[in-house]
Amino acid sequence: MSRIAYVDGRYVPHAHAHVHIEDRGYQFADGVYEVILLLGGRPIDAGLHLGRLARSLAELAIPAPVGDAALTRIIAEVVRRNRLRDGLFYLQVTRGVARRDHGFPRPAPRPTLVLTARRIPPFPTSLDGWQASAITHPDQRWARCDIKSIALLPNVLARQAARQAGATEAILFGPDGTVTEGAATNIWIVDAEGVLRTHPLGHAILPGCTRAALLGLLERGNIRHEERAFSLDELRAAREVMLSSATSYIKPIVAVDGATVGQGLPHAGRAGPVAQLLFDLFAAHVRAAGAGGPGGK
Ligand SMILES: Cc1ncc(COP(=O)(O)O)c(C=O)c1O
Repeated sequence: MSRIAYVDGRYVPHAHAHVHIEDRGYQFADGVYEVILLLGGRPIDAGLHLGRLARSLAELAIPAPVGDAALTRIIAEVVRRNRLRDGLFYLQVTRGVARRDHGFPRPAPRPTLVLTARRIPPFPTSLDGWQASAITHPDQRWARCDIKSIALLPNVLARQAARQAGATEAILFGPDGTVTEGAATNIWIVDAEGVLRTHPLGHAILPGCTRAALLGLLERGNIRHEERAFSLDELRAAREVMLSSATSYIKPIVAVDGATVGQGLPHAGRAGPVAQLLFDLFAAHVRAAGAGGPGGK
């Protein structure tokens, strides 16, 4: 069955889906995006993603192309037409098509809305094999990383550096050695005192929806946690390192720059106890959304 994309009001075969060459997304990366997970036929944390989309659009003064109800209907229709159960949506909104000129076009063009979807493997049944390795890499991005902008070149270069080093993710750090986040993930550590930490919200990181969901789940548990930045030194001394994203859920990072995480601890080089707990919490969260997961349907 061929994939179907949504482009500006039309459902079209993926192979024939296109936008104009003067789309501001193509010319200036003048747009925003979301990646939403679909498990068991249901979007996960859709409210968080649509909320973040609205915020990103507002920060760039791009009008919403359609309301939330219409967007929810379009997502459901893309699911139906692609006969998806486990997959992910890519949703992109750009400022629209206009004669090339840096300033915002006047009158404002109609924003371009594109949705694509593809299959992914079902939610993992356990953390066996669900792990990553990372390199550290300078954060070379702009000063508004809280906006989910399609301008991803520094993220692309960092991820490629990781790939060339045989690793999965690049953990980004600022000029003062503070870790911000991953090239396409939020980063967590369990520090030497056993406290689970991730960078606080602000302009330096993307407010990850998985991060937000996990923090919400943590409120109900008794894991000591803090939204507090950590340094490269603390990363290297961490008992556990993890990443989170809509497509990776929560994933232990078992080596950083070739060094085993948690050296000297029983779980060295494998998922640690906090990663296991977060994974179990997230699996339950996914099940609660009616989407299966370990022990689910
Ligand atoms: C830079 C960056 N940080 C964090 C994330 C994780 O966000 P989410 O959990 O919403 O997928 C992403 C996801 O693409 C990202 O690109």
